[in-house]
Amino acid sequence: MRKHIVAGNWKMNKTFQEADELIDDIVTCLENDTPDADTLVIVCPPFPYLEMAGDYSDGSYFAVGAQNVSDQESGAYTGEVSAAMLESLEMEYCIVGHSERRAYYHETDEIIARKVNQLLAHGIRPIVCCGEVLQEREENRQFDVVKKQITDGLFHLSPEEFGKIVVAYEPVWAIGTGKTATPEQAQEMHAFIRGLIAEKYGKEVADETSILYGGSCKPSNAKELFSNPDVDGGLIGGASLKAEDFMGIVNAWKK
Ligand code: PGA
Repeated sequence: MRKHIVAGNWKMNKTFQEADELIDDIVTCLENDTPDADTLVIVCPPFPYLEMAGDYSDGSYFAVGAQNVSDQESGAYTGEVSAAMLESLEMEYCIVGHSERRAYYHETDEIIARKVNQLLAHGIRPIVCCGEVLQEREENRQFDVVKKQITDGLFHLSPEEFGKIVVAYEPVWAIGTGKTATPEQAQEMHAFIRGLIAEKYGKEVADETSILYGGSCKPSNAKELFSNPDVDGGLIGGASLKAEDFMGIVNAWKK
């Protein structure tokens, strides 16, 4: 069955020393209180810390990922980081299409599709974000918006390639706002996304795809969110910056 995943998206936070300390704290907590066998913990620090963080990854329940990747293979793209570079650091995961990248850096579904291709070509599993803004939800267009993001960003893949994808549903109005989707809203959208995947790739692929919720997920609401049948974990921003809060969410999966 699909994995339960709790992934920390640190965004543009922490100095190197603070990052080292946070990873060390998280790994120590995980060693003292090992997650259930079906749970995977991922942290996604800024690029300059990936090598340091990667040294902690243990190949079983703790992995490291990047927050972004170039849509190009290599060459004259000043400031960009390629999938080949991430592969050479043995990164296993990479977030793609986060709403902040879509909004501030004008990433379209076409760019996101190219980034997904780059990652898959280098053996890295994309964590692909989708989600509507407040106005779209108020106009009841959230399903159309998410359908377009998933279709245009991912449905060019073969079933085998799609098997490597982790989806993260992050309603933009809930990100960093303290406003969380209700468990019912999360379940409704996750079931919709799984339905889209089933329609395109069949039930087996859909059942194996982990779909994470993101948007003001914290220790106090994680258990209720994760208790929904189609919510397979969380992509955590603010609450991933403190080991105690992050572990509170990881432990929401404990039986
Ligand atoms: P948040 O961010 O948990 O701070 O709302 C989630 C995300 O952007 O991935």
